[in-house]
Amino acid sequence: MNSILKEDLENIYKNIEQESKKFENSNIFITGCCGFLGYYFLNFFNFYKEQLGINSIVAVDNFQVGKPHWLQEILKDGKIELEEFDIIDGDLSKISRDKSNSFVIHMASIASPVFYRKYPIKTIEANIWGLKRLLDDYKDESLRGFLFFSSSEIYGDPTPENIPTPETYRGNVNTIGPRACYDESKRFGETICYEYAKEYNLPIALARPFNNYGPGMKLGDKRVPADFAKAVINNEDIVILSDGKPTRTFCYISDAITGYLKVLLYGKFDVFNIGISKPEISILELARIYEAKAKKLFDYKGTVKYQVSDEKNYLTDNPNRRCPIITKAELLLNYKPEIFVEEGVERFLKYIVEEGIK
Ligand SMILES: NC(=O)c1ccc[n+]([C@@H]2O[C@H](COP(=O)([O-])OP(=O)(O)OC[C@H]3O[C@@H](n4cnc5c(N)ncnc54)[C@H](O)[C@@H]3O)[C@@H](O)[C@H]2O)c1
Repeated sequence: MNSILKEDLENIYKNIEQESKKFENSNIFITGCCGFLGYYFLNFFNFYKEQLGINSIVAVDNFQVGKPHWLQEILKDGKIELEEFDIIDGDLSKISRDKSNSFVIHMASIASPVFYRKYPIKTIEANIWGLKRLLDDYKDESLRGFLFFSSSEIYGDPTPENIPTPETYRGNVNTIGPRACYDESKRFGETICYEYAKEYNLPIALARPFNNYGPGMKLGDKRVPADFAKAVINNEDIVILSDGKPTRTFCYISDAITGYLKVLLYGKFDVFNIGISKPEISILELARIYEAKAKKLFDYKGTVKYQVSDEKNYLTDNPNRRCPIITKAELLLNYKPEIFVEEGVERFLKYIVEEGIK
């Protein structure tokens, strides 16, 4: 196993050890398992299935953005059952699984803006009808936890006094722009979860992820951390498709997955920002970090340059700043992200080099 991935999985395990007993004798069901976050979830459950005492793991994906190269490696252990399945209109009763004592992780939805703008209706359907069908399927079962992947995008472009952003901020979102299919369907998804949790007394918890990056992100994913990684690995210039000034905090994958598992295990309805609260850096600063790390690790010769995206809506409704307040997760979940962006980028690049990905 890749040494960076192995170390990350060990860290995740260590950080959830206190609450990990809750997994004993459980059955896990994951949708959208073959994307970026799915890579870590599947690897984690595959690696620690026996130690966590998990009975079964069933995972589904419709391979909308392709079948990942790492899948065969994980499946060959025979611990995870994978089915090609579309959560929008697939027949859930045909997916054979034990639904008792379940933990359900609903991730099925394209997360990269370039791709969800290409498939806006499918994005809406996965987050709304897919979610509703899944909740209907589990509402009468002995559910231990249901994690819905919402997004920090439900905040839209927050007004300055609402940055950094707490869970109580209600958002500033365009209902009819090119990002609305994603932002608004995540918002409505949250409402569906809220009502089902009340009506059927279900332990549904919502995570609002803030800009994750790291191993598992496809280099062709078209999110900024993937674009920059692709450029430096191929010894090409890093291209910034904005003025480089929008700011973000970047949360390394192992910190993020620790947070999501804690939300999953929380066991009652609530909503949590999951990300890292500092440093908030500009896209240009992020590009400089990639440039410096690539020079250190493999004698990178490129530089940073600016271009206009071929996609006309690339910057429409793009938030200027994104930075979470994570105090709630710190207090209620004992969540403590610890990998700052310089270290995270270095880990991401080392992982790619060790894997030989281009
Ligand atoms: N990674 C982040 O920084 C981030 C930020 C905010 C929200 N999220 C949310 O977290 C979840 C996972 O994110 P990711 O980065 O792994 O996304 P991703 O795009 O890398 O992966 C999503 C996976 O879902 C699958 N999928 C899409 N529609 C489906 C459908 N109808 N039926 C079955 N499978 C389907 C895709 O094939 C893909 O494998 C998503 O719901 C996303 O909106 C992620």
